[in-house]
Amino acid sequence: MRVLVVGSGGREHALVWRLAQSPSVKALFAAPGNPGMARTARCVPIKGDAIEELLAFAETERIDLTVVGPELPLVLGIVDRFEAKGLAIFGPSQRAAALEGSKVFAKDLMAKHGIPTARFQTFQDATAARRFAREMGAPLVVKADGLAAGKGAIVCRTLEEADRAIALCLEERAFGKAGEQIVVEEFLSGEEASFFALTDGETGLFLGTAQDHKTVFDDDRGPNTGGMGAYSPAPVVDATVHDQVMKTIIRPTVRAMAAEGRPYRGVIYAGLMLTREGPKVLEYNCRFGDPEHQPIMMRLEDNPLPLLHAVARGERLPSSVSWRPEAAVCVVMASGGYPGEYETGKPISGIEAAEKVEGVTVFHAGTALRDGQLVTAGGRVLGVTAIGADIRAAIGRAYEAVGKICFDGMHFRKDIGKKALAHRGR
Ligand code: AMP
Ligand code: GLY
Repeated sequence: MRVLVVGSGGREHALVWRLAQSPSVKALFAAPGNPGMARTARCVPIKGDAIEELLAFAETERIDLTVVGPELPLVLGIVDRFEAKGLAIFGPSQRAAALEGSKVFAKDLMAKHGIPTARFQTFQDATAARRFAREMGAPLVVKADGLAAGKGAIVCRTLEEADRAIALCLEERAFGKAGEQIVVEEFLSGEEASFFALTDGETGLFLGTAQDHKTVFDDDRGPNTGGMGAYSPAPVVDATVHDQVMKTIIRPTVRAMAAEGRPYRGVIYAGLMLTREGPKVLEYNCRFGDPEHQPIMMRLEDNPLPLLHAVARGERLPSSVSWRPEAAVCVVMASGGYPGEYETGKPISGIEAAEKVEGVTVFHAGTALRDGQLVTAGGRVLGVTAIGADIRAAIGRAYEAVGKICFDGMHFRKDIGKKALAHRGR
């Protein structure tokens, strides 16, 4: 099979790395890819959101399956364009990708179909939003409707902060069109977990849990990032919680999308808050997580290719997949200054030594080659990912490998996986 992976981050490198191990993959391409992916795939210089160019490439190269990593091309309708040409592509249609592309759509869907989520209302008018904020009381959360590069959810501890967030979206238009509508919702307490399920439009197939580390500094301090590390599985999702999530969230979401005339084929990433009243949806994403997909791909024992292909072709999925019994941990190494401004072009050393540590693979996110030298080229630079007998062993290996890598200004969290240890007591 000839396979094309769209995207250039750690998530896509993990996908490419895993697909390259599949004997049925005869040719593997990444667009635009990165130097890490170039070890096993041919990287083609087409951006992930250049849909028409990707389509032309897939036709010329007779690609049998395209797998889309990031949300933007999905929300822009890449799947519809490929399917119109009879090309198999993994991901939801544009109308189904609204699950991530519009928080107003997702919240209304959950309300209509009884899927547990925070109490909320949606607004276009700032005065009405402020009135509702007062009815709810602080803390609360203000969310821009559309894609906002992970910056669109503002947790407000006080009503003054809520007023500022409402003004930022609806009056100052800080998020442009993405913030023309907002959701104002109840603040939920509990522990967060990421839950993944593949769906062929009718059934939901569990595809792992993980916990992300969103803030830049240890102990969940500092501003939010795209994710500074993740581990899988998430021990907080025990068998009872798992069954609850499948029964009250994943299957109802698949049914609801079908009932709305937006059949969903692809991966549903449910960002959950595990509250005292049970799991509730914080947000849906219509793609795999980054960095969560890195430890998940390491733990997946089954070949993902037939699963992705079945979803793309609308064929039935099996009822379960097999996992390796171990745990996996990914530590993100980031550029100095990230998630604020940062410099690029810093030479990176030590990756080979890091990968000599047992069970370690270094996934590239923001890297580039300059005159044959690997240099930094983004905020999140590397995802140092390790598998081990348990979380503690995986953490040990990941940090041993991190210790061998060096670039000017680098920073990373020292506490990835600590929360999982608290759960297991090991
Ligand atoms: P989102 O983009 O909706 O996933 O939100 C980003 C982050 O904001 C989440 O990972 C949570 O940490 C936090 N968050 C979002 N919604 C809520 C909520 N209703 N209650 C508490 N925290 C929230
Ligand atoms: N790690 C968060 C995300 O993929 O959206």
